[in-house]
Amino acid sequence: MFSYPQDRSCPYQPSPGYQELGRGGPLHKVSLWDGRSIWMVTGHATGRKLLADPRMSADRSRDDFPVVLPRFEAPIFKPIAIIGFDPPMHDVHRRMLAPDFSLKHVREMRGEVEELTGRLVDDMLRKGPPADLVEDFALPIPSMVISQLLGVPYDDHEFFEAKTVGLLQAKDAAGAQAAGQALWDYLDGLIGAQGQAPGGEGVLGRLAGRTDDKDLSREDLLRIALALLIGGHDTTSQMIALGVVTLLEHPDQLAAVRSDPDVLPAAVDELLRMVSVTDVSGVRVATADIEVDGEVIKAGEGVLVSSSMANRDPAVYEDPYTFDVHRGAGRGGAAAARQHLTFGFGIHQCLGQNLARMELEVAFSTLVERIPRLRLAVPVGDLPSRTGGTMQGVHRLPVEW
Ligand code: HEM
Repeated sequence: MFSYPQDRSCPYQPSPGYQELGRGGPLHKVSLWDGRSIWMVTGHATGRKLLADPRMSADRSRDDFPVVLPRFEAPIFKPIAIIGFDPPMHDVHRRMLAPDFSLKHVREMRGEVEELTGRLVDDMLRKGPPADLVEDFALPIPSMVISQLLGVPYDDHEFFEAKTVGLLQAKDAAGAQAAGQALWDYLDGLIGAQGQAPGGEGVLGRLAGRTDDKDLSREDLLRIALALLIGGHDTTSQMIALGVVTLLEHPDQLAAVRSDPDVLPAAVDELLRMVSVTDVSGVRVATADIEVDGEVIKAGEGVLVSSSMANRDPAVYEDPYTFDVHRGAGRGGAAAARQHLTFGFGIHQCLGQNLARMELEVAFSTLVERIPRLRLAVPVGDLPSRTGGTMQGVHRLPVEW
């Protein structure tokens, strides 16, 4: 049986194996590292149907929830807040956080993100080429934004960035647990301090005084803080990095973005579609037999929706493997550009998507404008890419200008 996951051979295209699988229909059985077989969805409509189905559970603490990689066996992931809860608790916690992630709040944050991004480019230009675009640019943007949004001191960024990578890239459960526990203890200390001096900054400042609420225990808040810290920065930073690679590898598309800034929002969504940085829109377990596309997903069976493949469903996208920033042009274009499944679908659709889109717009437009001669310092095939997991990325992104 087809084994999952498989590494990409190009940073912005799904692995050749997934492409082959996708040609055989929307639903497939694949086998995981622990020998378990689960359903992998490569069709767009099927993916949306299943992610919107209330009989699909996201509860990571269930014994039958599929463990896609060894690291996810670590107790710290079971349960992980919001993303790993079903209603009603999921909805209660999501509502609590909605104001921090609203379009209005994100718009208010934009000026500061532009300033920060400008400063990072100033520093790069001052130091001169070559640079590592991950360390110097792609990582500090989301890292600083999420620390501000949460109310976590940015001075501690080296610690929480290293532990986040340790948690998300660990080879095994013990490594993930050690990194996760360090983050947990750190956040616990912050929440304790915030609780004693209420009125602090960010989500933690707002919620730390509320942990006697019946809907929010201290442990809930800790799990929420951990989910936001890890959900918010690795995804966006790697999306910036791989987005830059995709743009640089398509000079005509890059020129289109440069010549018409109005193209930028649609270009960001086209990059999100192409790169599909998490490679997965969602993992679930069926709580009842579910008939879909002539197959029956049985209660207790696992399902994984592949964003990189659903985002290339020829029923939705013409010429799906082509990067085309004008895909979203014309009537109804913006909505069409946003129907990709990179942020998932249904009740768990990414809470941070407004924020992520804003950070990406600012990051790409600043680079295009300020460093017009930016280029990769090594051939794309030599980039040190992440392997053996689902989250895509590069360890470093050497660039020059
Ligand atoms: C390019 C960047 C990002 C990508 C590709 C991404 C992707 C995703 C995906 C696919 C899901 C759905 C998972 C599922 O259904 O199981 C999700 C959920 C979530 N994301 Fe993001 N994300 C990004 C940025 C962010 C940011 C910046 C934050 C917060 C600061 C964030 C916080 C969350 C949270 C809290 C959830 C869970 C929502 C829920 O369960 O209701 N994400 N994200």
